[in-house]
Amino acid sequence: MNLNPPLTTYLVLITLQLITPSLQFTNQEIPTPKPWPQQFHALLYMNLSRGNLQISNLWYDWPRGLNLNIIQKQLGVLLYDVEWNNGTSFYYTLGDNGTCEIMHFGVGIPRPDFLDEAKYLGTQETEGFLCNVWEKVDFIWYYEDVLTRRPVRWDFLDGISTHVMTFEVGAFLNDYSLVQAPSYCFTQETEANYKSYLMTGAWLSVLPVVWGVWFWREKERKVQCIKECCEERP
Ligand SMILES: *[C@@H]1O[C@H](CO)[C@@H](O)[C@H](O)[C@H]1NC(C)=O
Ligand SMILES: *[C@@H]1O[C@H](CO)[C@@H](O)[C@H](O)[C@H]1NC(C)=O
Ligand SMILES: *[C@@H]1O[C@H](CO)[C@@H](O)[C@H](O)[C@H]1NC(C)=O
Repeated sequence: MNLNPPLTTYLVLITLQLITPSLQFTNQEIPTPKPWPQQFHALLYMNLSRGNLQISNLWYDWPRGLNLNIIQKQLGVLLYDVEWNNGTSFYYTLGDNGTCEIMHFGVGIPRPDFLDEAKYLGTQETEGFLCNVWEKVDFIWYYEDVLTRRPVRWDFLDGISTHVMTFEVGAFLNDYSLVQAPSYCFTQETEANYKSYLMTGAWLSVLPVVWGVWFWREKERKVQCIKECCEERP
């Protein structure tokens, strides 16, 4: 069959009209997670991978580049976890026997849009809320209330499930002394100090050996030289 050009154009137009509206429709139908507010406070009920429970007060503060978690483990100590956007985290307890641990991660706190490009899995009812559910890189499963668009729950690959009990958009810490790690974080032997001590120790213990080898080789060289010099002489 030989189609004349106007007819071909007409067919193409029809086809485009058929395809394009359906594409637009699909795009509108796939919901995307609401980005996290720049600042919020959330009370989180968490079930850790071994079934241990904890309540965590999360103060997320993107403009200040920090995350404060105040963690109450069941019948345990109150643990402060300050995560800075430069990848440094301080874990400490307060009181007489306060402890502190400094960790360095390669990454900072989650960006407000960290769920971008998450895969939509449809709706599911959880904990009494009808939610849109997304999954990102097989690492996090995120449940957002269809009606209010507040996060309801998120699960991590390692089995930690987090349940959002309160979500106060715009709330921020009034008392910034809470995010100031206590002095003993900076006086104790940190991991970095420990590593540099180890390196220094390793060098100091290797030094005598290096010297020994050097002296021995020098001695050998002299002996060799004396031999050669002597042999060269008639
Ligand atoms: C915590 O999670 C474990 C494993 O999913 C589950 O068996 C347990 O019932 C949960 N506990 C609570 C109190 O939610
Ligand atoms: C990151 O920022 C915190 C708070 O300002 C600071 O205490 C820490 O030393 C910084 N870490 C690095 C690796 O610069
Ligand atoms: C601190 O440690 C000491 C010695 O281990 C102990 O006697 C004391 O009860 C501890 N204090 C607190 C508040 O835990």
